Amino acid sequence: MPLMSPTLLVLNGPNLNLLGTREPATYGHETLADIDRLCQETAAALGLEAECRQTNHEGQLIDWIHQARGRCAGILINPGAWTHTSVAIRDALVASELPVIEVHLSNVHKREAFRQHSFVSGIAVGVICGLGSDGYRAGVQHFGKLLKG
Ligand code: DQA
Repeated sequence: MPLMSPTLLVLNGPNLNLLGTREPATYGHETLADIDRLCQETAAALGLEAECRQTNHEGQLIDWIHQARGRCAGILINPGAWTHTSVAIRDALVASELPVIEVHLSNVHKREAFRQHSFVSGIAVGVICGLGSDGYRAGVQHFGKLLKG
């Protein structure tokens, strides 16, 4: 049987399906499909597989996190606005018992006060923000190191 590459789950929360047309001055011109491709190519070069998903429904995201337990090697997540509101997503990530990296396209610390608190950061291995799609690449690359070590 062929050996399977470890799977990274790359999750994007609400409104991120609109990337490319949504507030390009803040979020850039790349689409989510561009970012998914970047994650998949970066992962493949490291012998990993990136499984990329986006939803506008919080319960769906929580179900995917639950299903990752014991199946995936780590979770790279941009929870979008749920970053600032969702204890349920934080609890699901903890329950997954997987390493989590939080990523944001924009520098949330330069923006409105309500974006400065994250329910996820306290349980994440690390947080990347303000680097646009480069943050996703860096997140996948860090998993490459983490999973080797
Ligand atoms: C975001 C930042 C959040 O505050 C916002 O609600 C988003 C996108 C980012 O990637 O910069 O939807 O997570």
